[in-house]
Amino acid sequence: MYEIVGPTGKKFLPPAGNCWKIIQSEYEKLLDDKRVYFGKDGEGVPRRMEFLSKAKGIVPWTWWPHEEAGHTDESKKEANEIFGGDISFGTPKPERLIQRILQIATNLNDLVLDSFLGSGTTAAVAHKMGRRYIGIEMGDHAMTHCVPRLQKVIEGEQGGVSEAVGWNGGGGFRFYRLGVAVCDESGHVSKGVRFAPLAAHIWFIETGIPFSGRADSPLLGSHEGIGYYLLYNGILGDKRPDGGNVLTAKTLSGLPPHDGAKVIFGEGCRLGAERLKREGITFRQIPYKIKAR
Ligand SMILES: C[S@@+](CC[C@H](N)C(=O)[O-])C[C@H]1O[C@@H](n2cnc3c(N)ncnc32)[C@H](O)[C@@H]1O
Repeated sequence: MYEIVGPTGKKFLPPAGNCWKIIQSEYEKLLDDKRVYFGKDGEGVPRRMEFLSKAKGIVPWTWWPHEEAGHTDESKKEANEIFGGDISFGTPKPERLIQRILQIATNLNDLVLDSFLGSGTTAAVAHKMGRRYIGIEMGDHAMTHCVPRLQKVIEGEQGGVSEAVGWNGGGGFRFYRLGVAVCDESGHVSKGVRFAPLAAHIWFIETGIPFSGRADSPLLGSHEGIGYYLLYNGILGDKRPDGGNVLTAKTLSGLPPHDGAKVIFGEGCRLGAERLKREGITFRQIPYKIKAR
């Protein structure tokens, strides 16, 4: 522990039980370098000064002046330009503020999540800065504002941070509407789920890609040579509780053909192991074999 004497002669010791954060020789080097600050009157507790010019990358400050991170007027102007004056939400952020946050917290290609997307500033800036992103928004402005905004970004919109980050357009995004919850908290199929959402869920879990079929047939489609079938909700026209939802010789003969291995989801299976093997069928029972994710 060493004593520090300020420019006015005031003496400082570290708080009881602590020591200074740097050893004395380091402190003296900083002092010679005029990098110790004792407050405006020279009597404040000594603090180390950091210079932006000497920093590697951007140093995170707790106080970000508007010259660097933008201000609410700027964000309103940006939003006005993008949405033509139609702003139905109150607090859009300036793109420069989000740029600063992403500079500090992320690297190229990182995945940025904004679960309250609002006007879509985070997604727009993430896109311009070469980050991947997921935006979640429950309001209609997801469709009326965020989607058109991101389309403009892709077309090379030159507002906000575009010039600063050298943005000229490109890339793309996918827009999804959240469906009903297919599984309950314990991972089982929720009561009342219709064929189409369950089909989309099963397809995605099995293949890892979004479902783009029409969900009007028990054959959902084929992926990497495997045909995926779902027997559920009387899709075969048999509305009895377990009628068309059970794989029997009769239901099998009524299924749309697929030349190759098949994965069939249904509520029950009356075919023996031999027959399943011969037909190249892997049977998965609903609800037990449906994974939540
Ligand atoms: C203050 S705005 C978000 C601002 C935005 N992140 C930005 O950087 O400008 C909050 C948004 O969260 C949305 N929101 C609120 N609760 C939500 C929820 N549970 N799921 C999805 N979006 C939600 C609101 O509709 C609103 O658009």
